[in-house]
Amino acid sequence: MTHDPFLPADPLAVIASYAQVNLIGGVRVPVGTGMAVTNPATGARIGMAAASNPGETAAAVAAAKAAGPAWAALPARERGRRVAAAGRALAAEAEVVARVLCLETGKAIRTECRGELAVAADLLEFYGGLASELKGETVPFHPRSLTVTTREPLGVVAAILPWNVPLVLMMLKIAPALVAGNTVVVKAAEEAPFATFAAAEILMQYLPDGVLNVVNGDGPDCGAALTAHADIAKITFTGSEEVGEVVYKAGAGRIIPVSLELGGKSPMIICADADLDKTVTGAINGMRFTRQGQSCTAASRIYVHSSLLSAFVDKLAGKLEKLIIGDPMDEATDIGTIISARQAGVIRSYVARAAATPQAIVLRCGTLPKDADLSPDLFMQPTLILGLPEDHPCVQEEIFGPVAVIQAWDNYEEVIASANATRYGLAATVWTDSLSTALDATARLDAGYVQVNQNLTIQPNVSYGGFGRSGLGKEASLEAMLDHFTRKKTIVMNFD
Ligand code: NAI
Ligand code: MG
Repeated sequence: MTHDPFLPADPLAVIASYAQVNLIGGVRVPVGTGMAVTNPATGARIGMAAASNPGETAAAVAAAKAAGPAWAALPARERGRRVAAAGRALAAEAEVVARVLCLETGKAIRTECRGELAVAADLLEFYGGLASELKGETVPFHPRSLTVTTREPLGVVAAILPWNVPLVLMMLKIAPALVAGNTVVVKAAEEAPFATFAAAEILMQYLPDGVLNVVNGDGPDCGAALTAHADIAKITFTGSEEVGEVVYKAGAGRIIPVSLELGGKSPMIICADADLDKTVTGAINGMRFTRQGQSCTAASRIYVHSSLLSAFVDKLAGKLEKLIIGDPMDEATDIGTIISARQAGVIRSYVARAAATPQAIVLRCGTLPKDADLSPDLFMQPTLILGLPEDHPCVQEEIFGPVAVIQAWDNYEEVIASANATRYGLAATVWTDSLSTALDATARLDAGYVQVNQNLTIQPNVSYGGFGRSGLGKEASLEAMLDHFTRKKTIVMNFD
């Protein structure tokens, strides 16, 4: 099948066409008020997103509700085929959507945005192929009765997104929701609304009107109106702990299921027998330095056995030194910008608190760009901090920037205790050649996603989700679709 490009090739033209509109019932619907969106790398205004009020938000829920019965009534594989086809269409237009993403987020096109598009498209294909796995069970309740369970869609799903990896997080939510027969209203983050809008329009070429809708706006007027709407049957949210609590309460008010993917402060434990070069590469990937560290899964607490500490820090700093910080759209750039001046301020205040701590060492690696067109305050060097006490805010709290805390350890029991001592539990990694250490540590680490000798990102077929204040529920994998986007009905038939 050949595919005619749906979007113009110029990302700014794509963005201009989305001025103050929502995507409701398959069409762009103008809203009364707009919100400026800037390119964080330059400070230039790139477009105006919709700033939807509660009434404009409710229109999207109404469209999703109206589209629900017919969508749910399609054969599951037909839904799956459409979602998979949408994934291939997104892959075919990945370059322009990646450029839109680069302009709104300041993430580097080569190291981040293209890869994000590839994962987003893959998630649609993956879930499209799982449609006929929406199976129930037969239950041996009584020999003269037929007892079965079936999986039904929940109804209208509200998917609320952050700005750090909007397309991957969008597809982790909407792909299983749609394949399972739900209809969806997406709300993107204020900072990064346009790439998700473009992706949604591409998807809508394959979906009936109203099956997928996008509303944009701020948290209080649009996000809160969406989560409070009486016709929302499920909320799936990724973002801050603070808003996660508010969203959870909104769901509790109507007793509907809520999935939350919140923060993390994920430990990376490097044992004395680990392969040093692999740990250095793993730390760079795990810390998501090319995403300016703006990842909930970031391996932001690195516990290094004291015998390896100086070699590890030298090698890591040496490699970070060579990463190019600059214009996100430049093919040479490895590291782009922080999303906003507000976030940059938060990150700098954490680093300042570390620098003011006696005995702490703050290493800033790499060279900031000098280009006059670039916003100087939004670029930040990869930063390594050593010698902090365990109770320091930089060790305990999510910084969401390119800042890794490195702690030396000698006692295995103590390092496991330290690794488990934050309020989070999203991910953890252990680096060792010893199978018995790996088995012991993976069993004892309080984290939902534990890896040994690697630091992979989210994989479509691997269940992912946090313990503790990192969140509730799983994303990715068949399990996420079944457990979080369907309801199970038990049917007992007696013809005795
Ligand atoms: P946020 O949690 O405020 O925003 C996330 C989404 O929630 C946005 O779409 C926002 O409009 C929406 N929202 C805000 N208030 C709402 C409400 N009352 N009801 C419904 N929706 C609402 O995140 P923010 O302010 O952008 O980032 C702050 C911090 O959150 C970061 O520094 C980081 O620590 C954490 N964060 C974690 C992410 C993760 O991947 N787990 C992603 C982004 C941020
Ligand atoms: Mg916020």
